Amino acid sequence: MSKAATLRLDRLLANLGYGSRREVQQLVDAGAVTLDGAIIEEPDQRIAVTRDLPERMQVDDEPLDPPPGLLLMLNKPLGVTCSHKEAGPLVYGLLPPRWRRRDPALSTVGRLDKETSGLLLMTDDGTLLHRIISPRSNVSKRYRVTLDRPLRGDEAAIFSSGTLMLDNEDKPLLPAELEVLSPTEALVTITEGRYHQVRRMFAAVGNHVVALHRDRMGGLTLPDDIAPGEYRIMGEAEIAQVLPPR
Ligand code: URA
Repeated sequence: MSKAATLRLDRLLANLGYGSRREVQQLVDAGAVTLDGAIIEEPDQRIAVTRDLPERMQVDDEPLDPPPGLLLMLNKPLGVTCSHKEAGPLVYGLLPPRWRRRDPALSTVGRLDKETSGLLLMTDDGTLLHRIISPRSNVSKRYRVTLDRPLRGDEAAIFSSGTLMLDNEDKPLLPAELEVLSPTEALVTITEGRYHQVRRMFAAVGNHVVALHRDRMGGLTLPDDIAPGEYRIMGEAEIAQVLPPR
């Protein structure tokens, strides 16, 4: 079994956004940090960074924030942007303020448009992020689409053909699946992540998307108990639903 990495307590807490090394020192001096029920006296004490640390370590009587290696699923509401720096409400604003100071930082796994809602993953694990978005992993994404005009009937064949070209692109889209729910509603499953892909696919067949919601990535469906704007840390089983172990 591989041994857990160790970090000095002050480095660990500073990386989790609890403050500068100096501020963390003050927390330690105040006796605010405990491990397994005992107050930690020295900020340079080395800590084995294990998954169960939040159950064993407390800061100001609260469980420690999750250590690095975090994957979470968020139900993105309409009107928030998947960006660190654009104007207006950002998805990062839906997380606890301290989490925005973490190092390594949390990033979105791909993006949803400002006016798209639904399942959005976020992680601070760059390797995991790249595995999920890599074309080689072939992680499917399913969207519930509401359209301005009734479907014509030929869209499923066009989307699944592998020949559909979007404007200003030089490579056709990979085959995508369309399941009709009503004349103006459908589920679309794609494996790529091109810019505004679903909206542009419907524009290419003479329609217009009026509402777009992602409800599934790979084998993971957005759970009903995560309301818009809420998030949940994912466990191993949910991670494996998105990305089966190699
Ligand atoms: N396709 C789009 O057009 N927008 C999204 O946000 C995701 C897929």
